[in-house]
Amino acid sequence: MITVAPSILSADFGYLTNILDDIAKVTDHCHLDIMDGHFVPNITIGPPVVKSLRKHSNLYFDCHLMIENPRKYLESFKEAGADLTTVHIEVGKTLELIDQMEDLQLSKGLALNPDTDFSHVVPYLEKVDLLLIMSVFPGFGGQTFMLEALDKLRLASKYREENNLSFRIEVDGGVNLLTAPGCIDAGADILVVGSAIFESEQPIGIISALKSLAIGIRH
Ligand code: DX5
Ligand code: ZN
Repeated sequence: MITVAPSILSADFGYLTNILDDIAKVTDHCHLDIMDGHFVPNITIGPPVVKSLRKHSNLYFDCHLMIENPRKYLESFKEAGADLTTVHIEVGKTLELIDQMEDLQLSKGLALNPDTDFSHVVPYLEKVDLLLIMSVFPGFGGQTFMLEALDKLRLASKYREENNLSFRIEVDGGVNLLTAPGCIDAGADILVVGSAIFESEQPIGIISALKSLAIGIRH
């Protein structure tokens, strides 16, 4: 089953609650991009905003932490209502962060940047619920999908099958109606889609189209 995870990064932040209501009509998942201005050059939202959104929405909150020091904030995200938190392998202390997420009863995600080799995440794959493969350099929406991500998706999918593991595979960056089929074919289970949805005139229509396309390719 393929999940479409709208990334609200490209949405109009002045209307977030309305947008979450609209998203909930067609999917149960929402990808929240948390940026600290250090790990990535951009700054977005933090736990207080997640907490406010949680009061208005029952969507599954998939919090992608593009922050240098997740250890300091994981508890706040849990309290704010995050369901899943994803930390980047590049920030280090991965085992400790996974243990912390486990203790907080957060679903555990691990992300890797386009220039990080798949081998770096392998030692942690049996401990995580989700592997997030970046198909752009993190920091901004609206970038072009990097085709190299397809190789990484295939490697992750093959590794999961060969080792009988169950983590879900998420792809993030430049995913749209043209690039999604290749991602699904290569093994992605969750498609993060920002600008293709929110810069369209018909956001709900795009989510529905992505879902139909996914059903046609793989269940
Ligand atoms: C980029 C973020 C993405 C971003 C995707 O750093 O992690 O989630 O919102 O946006 P698009 O789909 O526009 O590439
Ligand atoms: Zn993201």
